[in-house]
Amino acid sequence: MKNPVRVAVTGAAGQIGYSLLFRIASGEMLGKDQPVILQMLELPMEKAQAALRGVMMELEDCAFPLLAGMVGTDDPMVAFKDADVALLVGAMPRGPGMERKDLLLKNAEIFTVQGKALNAVASRNVKVLVVGNPANTNAYIAMKSAPDLDPRNFTAMLRLDHNRALSQLAIRAGVAVADIEKLVVWGNHSPTMYPDYRFATANGASLKDKIGDEAWNRETFIPKVGKRGAAIIEARGLSSAASAANAAIDHIRDWSLGTNGKWTTMGIPSDGSYGIPKDVMYGFPVTCKDGKYEIVQGLEVDEYSRSMMDKTLAELEEERAGVAHLL
Ligand code: NAI
Repeated sequence: MKNPVRVAVTGAAGQIGYSLLFRIASGEMLGKDQPVILQMLELPMEKAQAALRGVMMELEDCAFPLLAGMVGTDDPMVAFKDADVALLVGAMPRGPGMERKDLLLKNAEIFTVQGKALNAVASRNVKVLVVGNPANTNAYIAMKSAPDLDPRNFTAMLRLDHNRALSQLAIRAGVAVADIEKLVVWGNHSPTMYPDYRFATANGASLKDKIGDEAWNRETFIPKVGKRGAAIIEARGLSSAASAANAAIDHIRDWSLGTNGKWTTMGIPSDGSYGIPKDVMYGFPVTCKDGKYEIVQGLEVDEYSRSMMDKTLAELEEERAGVAHLL
């Protein structure tokens, strides 16, 4: 049997946590031969800690053969101790009347503390995925608060947007999701993101040619993917949880176990590729191998794409400027 991998999950008693933990413990994220130890963080309030205890009782009741241990805590230094994977899901939600700026600042406090704790106690190879919104900027803050860790250890979740785009394309083109390759969602996990299927293929044939409808791309597809989160809230009365947990599992599985040469989308600190300034946490097309990601290079950026990529970049730069004084 392999040595257990330590997986830290914050916001463990929340909606996404409830969809995520059981799948991690059953082996869906790291493989059916990989034992895991779950290290779960929740707020210190009694209500949150009681809910966490309940989740841990249910995890126990599943008797997962791969669950080699569990820790429940309100201390990031305990949750992140020797963590190999850290899923930062817990975040401050936007309350009634709360300005976007206040939301950014509240979350900046959380992700500064958590970045510092990761810096102090996590494995030097920890793979960090930030899910809690605003995910890209929270990931940027955590990265900047962890100067002793490689910036490449920090990522933000664009995978839900990628998966949403895949399904919309499959429906429109009448092809199977599994046959689509070479899709990317550029930029911020927000309605400014740019889902881009110019390079995508289904069974090797160009999807752009097959769909052949640029008006649908610009007026239906891009806004639909961008506003899908809001549509789910409107329909369900709650934000996406099972699909968000599923995307987090896809993101870490691909990063850890590889994509076999196929593209996926990850929010990662820019290395300057495609004119995106260094360190901006931006959705890029990547391939993963041996636990590392590489940006897909050499893609043409046409005029429309440049304007879309710059628009989502401008939003990220604005968010970054809003928290700069804290870093
Ligand atoms: P939720 O409110 O059900 O759960 C969040 C949990 O985090 C709560 O139990 C809360 O007590 C806990 N928490 C808050 N601050 C914490 C902290 N500092 N340390 C530890 N735990 C903390 O929310 P839900 O639905 O699970 O969503 C979590 C986050 O994920 C939200 O910020 C949401 O906007 C975001 N999200 C991101 C998506 C993406 O694609 N990047 C998709 C869907 C949601």
